Amino acid sequence: MADHYAQMSAPELYLGPFQGITDVHFRNAFMAYFGGIDKLFTPFFTGIDTDNSKSLRTPEIDPGKNDVARTIPQILSRDAAELIRFAEQCQQKGYEEINWNLGCPFKRVANKKRGSGLLPFPVLIEEILEAYFAAAPARLSIKCRLGYADPNEIHQLIPVFNRFPLSELIVHARTGKQLYKGQVCRPCFEAIIPEVRHRLVYNGDIFTSRGFLSDREQFVGINHFMLGRGLLSDPFLAADLKGINNREMQDRKRHLHAFLIDLFDARRETLKTGPVTMGKVKELWTYLIWSFDKPQAVWRRIREIKTEQEYKQALTSIFAEFDWTGQGYAKYLLSKTEASTNDVN
Ligand SMILES: Cc1cc2nc3c(=O)[nH]c(=O)nc-3n(C[C@H](O)[C@H](O)[C@H](O)COP(=O)(O)O)c2cc1C
Repeated sequence: MADHYAQMSAPELYLGPFQGITDVHFRNAFMAYFGGIDKLFTPFFTGIDTDNSKSLRTPEIDPGKNDVARTIPQILSRDAAELIRFAEQCQQKGYEEINWNLGCPFKRVANKKRGSGLLPFPVLIEEILEAYFAAAPARLSIKCRLGYADPNEIHQLIPVFNRFPLSELIVHARTGKQLYKGQVCRPCFEAIIPEVRHRLVYNGDIFTSRGFLSDREQFVGINHFMLGRGLLSDPFLAADLKGINNREMQDRKRHLHAFLIDLFDARRETLKTGPVTMGKVKELWTYLIWSFDKPQAVWRRIREIKTEQEYKQALTSIFAEFDWTGQGYAKYLLSKTEASTNDVN
């Protein structure tokens, strides 16, 4: 095993997109405070109906506010013309690659053959890719699941993906129907490694250093990993997985506290303090709490806050009274499987 690790190069880590959480403010504050991430993805855009789409005239994709070289704009669509329009506008802003979301699991999306709902239709996917690559205004990568209803659907999709010059394929090792529940199917991911011609990126349930080592060992030849809830729950995770030992980060509570204040202030500037900012604050905290020693008690401090002042007071008291244990999201999944009562998520 020692030999195997010696042969592995440093992993490339991606920050997964989270609609409603990993907005431009989060991405920028995260990179300023934590790092360890090589590539970032915007949450998905939709409704790109014109050549000067309103949703692309926002800070979310503004090249002056984003790290264009490392940020990949994502689109949710089943329409080749819309993908092309999106790619063209992104390219005009300086982005060289876009990502196509074939993973969104929600019924109202999937029922319209969008996101993971398109996965059972390889012919349709092939037609869309055909049309996209005939124009190919920017590089294209895909983020998908193993299937919508069945994890074997991917075996019909890979020959299609292999026919086109995708820049990479990111696979969240669940089905759409699973939503975010249950186990990821690691053996299913392992089985597709030899089939995929493109760079293959693993995504799903990377929550701890130990789990990551085991994934690296199992997925021979895979060097690219997308982090999701594990990183929201412990923003130090990527740096830890890479062994980055930054002295500033050693006082973790102080560092995280400063990040959260900066993130709040950055959002307040564009969103004003109000339900939107508070909603985002609380949603991030549904992940963060699990990396404290007493998740439920921390949540009770956050749950009722309504104003900026209440939030900043809650932060002060949380960081004074609770311990940061880190890498805690596995605790959440454990609490679910044990069916213990909990009042978040
Ligand atoms: C609230 C929420 C919002 C998400 N938004 C997006 C999105 O906009 N685009 C996308 O590709 N994936 C989205 N995802 C999926 C994550 O990026 C990631 O693939 C998923 O959480 C699995 O990785 P993990 O097990 O490491 O969390 C979202 C997930 C959640 C829970």
